[in-house]
Amino acid sequence: MEHRKNNQKMMKILVTGALGQLGSELVTGLREEYGVDSVIPTDIRPDEQPNFEVLDVLDKKAMERLIVKHGVTQIYHLAAMLSARGEEMPSKAWRLNIDSLVSVLELAEKHKLDRIYWPSSIAVFGPTSPKENTPQDCIMDPNTIYGISKLSGERLCEYVFNKFDVDVRSLRYPGLIGYKALPGGGTTDYAVDIYHKAKGEGKFSCFLTADTYLPMMYMDDAVRATISLMKAPKENIKVRTSYNISAISFSPAEQAASIKKMIPEFDITYNPDSRQQIAESWPSSIDDSAARRDWGWKEEYDLDKMTEIMLENIETPVSH
Ligand code: SER
Repeated sequence: MEHRKNNQKMMKILVTGALGQLGSELVTGLREEYGVDSVIPTDIRPDEQPNFEVLDVLDKKAMERLIVKHGVTQIYHLAAMLSARGEEMPSKAWRLNIDSLVSVLELAEKHKLDRIYWPSSIAVFGPTSPKENTPQDCIMDPNTIYGISKLSGERLCEYVFNKFDVDVRSLRYPGLIGYKALPGGGTTDYAVDIYHKAKGEGKFSCFLTADTYLPMMYMDDAVRATISLMKAPKENIKVRTSYNISAISFSPAEQAASIKKMIPEFDITYNPDSRQQIAESWPSSIDDSAARRDWGWKEEYDLDKMTEIMLENIETPVSH
């Protein structure tokens, strides 16, 4: 309890998966909010940024050493394997996603950390879940290893909160779209790639069908949602599994139409692959009224606003 009594203790936030699509933007957001020295970015790959540490999240002892070394008070545990890649190596995906979460939660309890953030996903829903305006609580029958790991992780988070008072908070992210870093191995990745190809080559072959609606969110909204959830008073957090959160839902055809407003000659073709089946098992839109009620969530970006920002900021790649 010593840690919790001392309110003056400096906030030190350890971020895992800090070089990933979300991590690279969340680290920037956290540094703007709390200062560069309050954030310890970690990843399995090395990097040059301030306070950076190499960390394999499956190495619990190394994680504990970093907690002690930096006097860590919060962890944002982002390292994970996403849906499409997970289907290629399910055992590895399960171990990475679940074993690392168990380590983080055990260390949080042992070292009396103030708060933990852990991302969940729309992938916790499955073919039998309601498709439109999917509620916070409903039938959940994920059929990807990624979704199964996220649903199990959610139950674990709620369990350690109830049993050990570990203040762990979570959001069920939709597909995240930003221009600074590329996603890897997800089913919603097309919605980022489409902007790169539109700008670079003027055409795009989509791995989902034209009318596959999925919930999506611009990265700045995701970073703001995450930081406001983590700042909210403990008593406001009523959902201890993971909050539904949403911003925009669209299909590849609608996204292409939005791009055509800026690049009229843009051409899209559809060649669905195995990811189509994953997308079809997920909601097309999400009811996030609990997040709006409990901690004031509201999105700022719609499809056209996001398209404009993405097309303005993506650097034109070299075509091969
Ligand atoms: N964006 C993730 C994926 O496609 C879902 O959380 O796997």
